Parts: sequence; C-alpha cells; structure tokens
Amino acid sequence: MKGVFITLEGTEGTGKSTQMRNLARDLSALGHRIRITREPGGTAFGEQIRKTLLSVKNSRMAARSELFLYLASRAQHIEEVIRPALREGRIVLCDRFSDATLAYQGFGRGLPRPFVLGAIRFAAAGMSPDLTVLLDMDVRKGLARVKGRGRPNRLDREKLDFHRRVRRGYRRIARSEPGRVKILNAGGNPETVRAAVRKTVLDFLKKRGIRITPQPGRRRRV
Ligand code: TMP
Repeated sequence: MKGVFITLEGTEGTGKSTQMRNLARDLSALGHRIRITREPGGTAFGEQIRKTLLSVKNSRMAARSELFLYLASRAQHIEEVIRPALREGRIVLCDRFSDATLAYQGFGRGLPRPFVLGAIRFAAAGMSPDLTVLLDMDVRKGLARVKGRGRPNRLDREKLDFHRRVRRGYRRIARSEPGRVKILNAGGNPETVRAAVRKTVLDFLKKRGIRITPQPGRRRRV
C-alpha cells in the first residue's frame, strides 16, 4: 500500500485531539495529502457505535460487549476509510486504534490479554500502524483537564485505578514495540508538545524516504 498509517494514543485529557489537528495542519502545509479520522467512529456506522460506547446511559455495559463494539467500529473503519485512503497514497492520521483496545479492554478492564490480542488481530485484518505517537502524562492531571471541559463520558467516569492501569498498559506496549511506538511527554505546554509530535512524525517520514519539501502553493486548511 502506498500511504502511511499514523496513530495517536494516550489516556484521557492528554490533548490528543488538539495535537491531531495541529499535526494535520503541519503536514498539509508541507504538501502532504492527509486523511484525518478517529476511533471509535470515522464512518457513519462507527459514529453510531461511538455514541453507544460513550453514553453514560450505558454504565452497565459488560466488558466483553464493550470490546466487540470497539472492534465492530474498527472493522468498518478499515474497510470504508483507512484502506482506501492508504491505497490513494494518503497519510492517514487516526485518533486511537488497536493499541487503545489492548490498553483499555486488556489492561484497564482486565479481559484476558491473549484473547483480546486475537480479537484485535481478527478485526484489524492485517492493518497496523506504521507509526504510533503515545502522548503520556499523569492520569490525574489529564482527568482534571477533562472535568474542566464538562460532561465526562462513560469512560472518563471510570475510577482513577482504571485509568492508571490503562496508562501502564500503554507504556508496556511502547516498551515492547519501541520501533513503532514513540512516547512523548504530554504534560508540558501544548506548543512544545506540538513541536515534539511534528518532529517525531517528520523524522519518521524522512526515514521512510517520503519527501517533506514545503509546497506553499498547496497549503490548505484541514
Ligand atoms: P476519545 O476518542 O474521545 O478519547 O474517546 C474514546 C474513548 O474510548 C476513550 O476513553 C478511549 C476508549 N477506547 C477504548 O476503550 N477502546 C478502544 O479500542 C478505543 C479505540 C477507544
């Protein structure tokens, strides 16, 4: 496939979505063709699943039901959005992907990890990120940011210990795949984090031999 698949991951309130938009702007300004998307969601069907997953009305959702809903959203997302965009040679920037499932459903919920890994593999049908940027910070600080924004969703409302397990999970994933997963400190000022994300991604594209010559004529808003 001609494109590049990049994911952003992190616990709640790490500024992931903001950094995602910043990165998309930075890469577009360099003339890259970007497709920005997210999970759960990214398709009409996936966005319906997202609503169900994040609604506080569904506080009694079983961990296994939750796992399969995230995977259902992903399977559709891969077929409808990710694979076609990669075939067109785009850089796909995805806010969360399979690592979130291992971190949240595997480490956070405590579902048996070999099973979760197998299910992730089945849903992803061979699709895995070329690069993952993990925004890491103290979970308490991140949750305080989320509360400041108002209306925490079903996952935001989980206990502090759940979020701590998720962070540990993410850090374990990063340690086990240092070539793909780059950890960045998300606790600093947002412009510093933006520069670090940009550098990480541009270094990766350069290594891949992907041209990053600025093309001001092609600058466009994302
Ligand atoms: P967010 O995209 O706004 O961060 O919200 C998505 C929530 O869903 C977030 O709490 C992480 C969680 N999540 C999982 O638990 N498993 C998954 O596989 C994915 C993609 C997200």
